[in-house]
Amino acid sequence: MNLTIALLPGDGIGPEVTAQAVKCLQAVGETFGHQFEFTEAIVGAKAIDKTGNPLPDSTLELCKNSDAVLFGAIGDPKYDNDPDAKIRPEQGLLKLRKELGLFSNIRPVKVFPTLIDKSPLKKRIIRGTDFVIYRELIGGIYFGEKNLNEDGTVASDLCTYSEAEISRIAHMAFKAAKTRRKKLTLVDKANVLESSRLWRKVVTKIAESYPEITLEFLFIDNAAMQLILNPSQFDVILTENMFGDILSDEGSVIGGSIGLLPSASVGEHNALFEPIHGSYPQAKDKDIANPIASILSAAMLLDHFGLDEESRALVIAVLKSMKNEIVTPDLDKNSKYGTNSVGDFISSNIRESDDHLTINRENIWLGKSTII
Ligand code: IPM
Ligand code: MG
Repeated sequence: MNLTIALLPGDGIGPEVTAQAVKCLQAVGETFGHQFEFTEAIVGAKAIDKTGNPLPDSTLELCKNSDAVLFGAIGDPKYDNDPDAKIRPEQGLLKLRKELGLFSNIRPVKVFPTLIDKSPLKKRIIRGTDFVIYRELIGGIYFGEKNLNEDGTVASDLCTYSEAEISRIAHMAFKAAKTRRKKLTLVDKANVLESSRLWRKVVTKIAESYPEITLEFLFIDNAAMQLILNPSQFDVILTENMFGDILSDEGSVIGGSIGLLPSASVGEHNALFEPIHGSYPQAKDKDIANPIASILSAAMLLDHFGLDEESRALVIAVLKSMKNEIVTPDLDKNSKYGTNSVGDFISSNIRESDDHLTINRENIWLGKSTII
């Protein structure tokens, strides 16, 4: 298969971790006979510094014309603490999601058995955790009308959703639930918000076409609590943009490090793959950032194009790095391995391993079932 991949390493640790994902994809390409053609472009704070625009037109065009986008991270502290900044790096990512129509953000959360001790939560609570969040990505409060009154003392952000916007991601989430444990939890705040009541109405109606799926509802505040109290109760979580943003960061704690969680953002014509973590500027250029979230995002990319065996080979190589304790310091503070060595280990394992011929399905982190 020939795939063109737009590479947007972005800010902070983005370039370091994305480089490891590229190494792994190249290893997959060589091992399985595929052609992955990468073209790099700027985005975020880096793009603001160079062009004044967090998403230059040339970057957007490249993404639109590529089969997939591999994204690193976005954000810079110099903007975080300046509420008056008119141009922000994050605007680049938000515009990219919107322009590419990436309405469905898929964030799998699973506890790796070899890392179960790394979690701040008790083993008995997190054992067996395996859920996937379907987060609506281009609507809601993120994209609604924003207002600031003239003297800057009153501000508002509108949360709007249409039936069509809810329905397209709901169908994706139900389809995913069909291939998994057949349970879907809609997370909302329907006791307070009109938009949440529309979500409930639309999703309840759609559920009629998926009789094998058990549909449950949870208010966001309760869901935030349940995620920590009993995460293994969840299978597919469907939610709107802002709640999904918050719940996925919370979910990332369960597995021990936010540096482990990948994501896929898909629309009708485009797909983008990125770790859920941010730009982690404190770790930039120190060779300590965990590349696994980015590498697993590359595995989701392979899955997206139906390259199941290739994706599994990559995931198995990741599991081996964990088993052999070839991990970055976030997972083992005495580790002597850095971002690069972890990437080298995983990519060389893909090349050398013959395990992908004899797959142990029990060990699969991102089976086809966890994504569309
Ligand atoms: C995420 C991030 C982004 C979001 C930021 C960087 C705009 O937190 O992908 O979860 O809020 O969606
Ligand atoms: Mg977030």
